Amino acid sequence: MSHPVRLIVVSNRLPVSLCKEGECWHVETGKGGLITALAPVLRNRGGDWIGWTGAGADVDLRAQLKAYSRQEGYSLHGVNLTEEEVHDFYHGFSNEIIWPLFHDFPSACNFQQAYFDAYLAVNRKFAQVVVGRSEEDDYVWVHDYHLMHLAQKIRKLGGERKTGFFLHIPFPSQDIFLKLPWRRQMLEALLEYDLIGFQTFRDRRNFIRCMSVLFKDWRQYGRGPVVHLSNGIRTIKVGYFPISIDFREFSTLARTRESAELAERVASAFRRRTLVLGADRLDYTKGIPQRLLAFRALLKKYPQLRTKISLVQIVVPSRERVPEYQAMKHRIEGLVSEINGEYSEPGWVPVYYLYRSLSRDELIGYYRAASIAFVTPLRDGMNLVAKEFCACNVDGNGVVILSEFAGAAAQFQRGALLVNPYDVEGVADALYAACQMPPAERRRRMQKLKTTVRKYDIYWWVDSFLGAAFGKKLEDFPAQES
Ligand code: G6P
Repeated sequence: MSHPVRLIVVSNRLPVSLCKEGECWHVETGKGGLITALAPVLRNRGGDWIGWTGAGADVDLRAQLKAYSRQEGYSLHGVNLTEEEVHDFYHGFSNEIIWPLFHDFPSACNFQQAYFDAYLAVNRKFAQVVVGRSEEDDYVWVHDYHLMHLAQKIRKLGGERKTGFFLHIPFPSQDIFLKLPWRRQMLEALLEYDLIGFQTFRDRRNFIRCMSVLFKDWRQYGRGPVVHLSNGIRTIKVGYFPISIDFREFSTLARTRESAELAERVASAFRRRTLVLGADRLDYTKGIPQRLLAFRALLKKYPQLRTKISLVQIVVPSRERVPEYQAMKHRIEGLVSEINGEYSEPGWVPVYYLYRSLSRDELIGYYRAASIAFVTPLRDGMNLVAKEFCACNVDGNGVVILSEFAGAAAQFQRGALLVNPYDVEGVADALYAACQMPPAERRRRMQKLKTTVRKYDIYWWVDSFLGAAFGKKLEDFPAQES
């Protein structure tokens, strides 16, 4: 598809990872489907990716980013954040206010005016970089909750740009959103975007309801995946675009001999027991303690499964400076040892717990070896683990147990076993049902899931968002309006 303008992608983090050898920093391509999908668009259209490098303000990475940009065929541009900005903007406003509030954890919010002031200042800092590095005709595509004020700041700096915003996390219901002390400013800022994208119909509906409570003169026009909001003076588009993965890449990698060998090694290490896999970034939104409690309930209620099933829980370290995350780690580790203390037998440990980052190849080995994906976040924007598991399920008989509060549930309704993650007994029963499910049903369900993930992949997502941004008529959308 052809987009006639340059694209400026802005996200809090640049899509690279940094590593330090001695005194030298190296820049490498980061993980994630977003970079895979956007890199070709940036290469073809020309454009920049602007974001924080994640390094300290005293680390000058300009030379490395320049060399990396030359090699990749598009430009990466770093925004430096001071220690104080990292504290108040990133850890503070983004991760101690917006993150918990938008994931339905208002009591975990630490509302502080200084955090909001820093948020505005850092959004302005990003806006200065965007204005400096773009032209009026460029399209600025902003990603995620760290930069909700960016379009407004760009405008205040006198920059006229077409802007789009995609929220990767959920948008909460009005009862929760209205608790935000800066709720009006937040919505006003969002209205400065020309297009706002959400993950699901439900997120968009929540947003529109909050709008109708706080700004009575704005109305929705139209139906379908992209609608208009207007107050008679200004009109913007608001849509839902479920994000996804590079299905083909995962599925191809999962079929390589190396992956088969890795999966075989994992399976034989677990003596071919039923392997249940949980893989998450450390986060209280992921529902890991509730999941462990459900696994414990399974072993208690269905003793015949003891020694026949193991849970592998991978936890990737994240945001270790935020107190809630440290507490969560201790809670998880306490529960893992309690369950293992209670149920282990010679030659069998119920829960294997890995607290580290795995390479993609290792993860694919686990995906292939597992029979059941145990994906039970308390709230999640989308959840790509569920989609990656399907793409890697070479045998076609894996089962997905999925929280109804993950964005992916809207697309996985017919293939996955949907659960309420707070209902520990109910989740244990779903796990039992997954273990007992006849092979034909497993295959039928997995086939449905794969078809969905294959069709609505990350390239579909990029095309849909940019299609909406550039006024193309959108077809082929997964229906969610029910
Ligand atoms: C979520 C957010 C992303 C964020 C990622 C990792 O997926 O939606 O915007 O980059 O978590 O979190 P971190 O705080 O390490 O960037």
